[in-house]
Amino acid sequence: MSLKFKVSVPATSANIGVGYDCLGVALDYKLELEVEESDRIEFLENGEPFSIPIEENYIFEAIKYTEKHLVKNIPSYKVNIIKNDIPLARGLGSSSSAIVAGILIANTFAGNILDINKIAKLAVEMEGHPDNVIPAIFGGMVLTAHDKNNLVYSNVLNSDDLYYYVMIPDFKLSTEKARSVLPKSYLVSDVINNMAKLGLLVNSLNNGEYCNLRFLLGDKIHQPYRFALINGSEKIFEASREFGALGEYISGAGPTLISLNYDNEEFLNKMRDMLDTLPDKWTIEKKKVTLKGAEVYDVTDI
Ligand code: HSE
Repeated sequence: MSLKFKVSVPATSANIGVGYDCLGVALDYKLELEVEESDRIEFLENGEPFSIPIEENYIFEAIKYTEKHLVKNIPSYKVNIIKNDIPLARGLGSSSSAIVAGILIANTFAGNILDINKIAKLAVEMEGHPDNVIPAIFGGMVLTAHDKNNLVYSNVLNSDDLYYYVMIPDFKLSTEKARSVLPKSYLVSDVINNMAKLGLLVNSLNNGEYCNLRFLLGDKIHQPYRFALINGSEKIFEASREFGALGEYISGAGPTLISLNYDNEEFLNKMRDMLDTLPDKWTIEKKKVTLKGAEVYDVTDI
């Protein structure tokens, strides 16, 4: 008997302005894989050889990392990526989704030895910060806090009327580079400003109150330092304000930018026209939070 199953993991948008390294949301993009036991380890993309070299393959890394925490060895396997519309290195958690997929693959082969909290801990250990991997696992918007011994997470409700207008340029920005421009220390007043806004932001989203959203997204910890890495970002924020969005933020480490707004085709079209005037081939899509986190399904013994 050998095992065959599918794994699906959503994309995520981390930070949401003032929630640097602790707040993230799952959005309806998807990484979807078919996995089966095989006589050798193989990665494919719609049946074709996988374009990412093995040393940059986070799915493989996560399977290896998870294996160390399992009491039994897992068999060799074939992973076929059947869908992946999560843009790579754009601030939408593509590496986190791959890490979560890898952990779930190893755990499924091991007979689900690891419970969901252990899965979450391994994912945070691997990624280094929880704001992408935790919403990728659980879905929805999630606030997290962690240290060496603790990992706490809790869902933040998002009303159904809030839309994420996701604006993606054609250049990549590595998290490493986007973190390298941040200061090593901060003014107490800036930290307090972020803390207060984060509390109020979560409360506002929970209550569906958006009147102060732009002010509450106004981060002082990472965004001011990252705008210079994202050509056109300040112009795009300005246009989003002018066209009536509720607020804007840099998604994760960038370069993707997100405007929050109600369902508004006119806003979408105006932003698209504005983005078309910029270099870097920006695209815009209207997305919603997905409450569905990572899942393993269609598990069969063949
Ligand atoms: N919180 C992280 C950052 C997200 O902004 O650097 C990127 O993975």
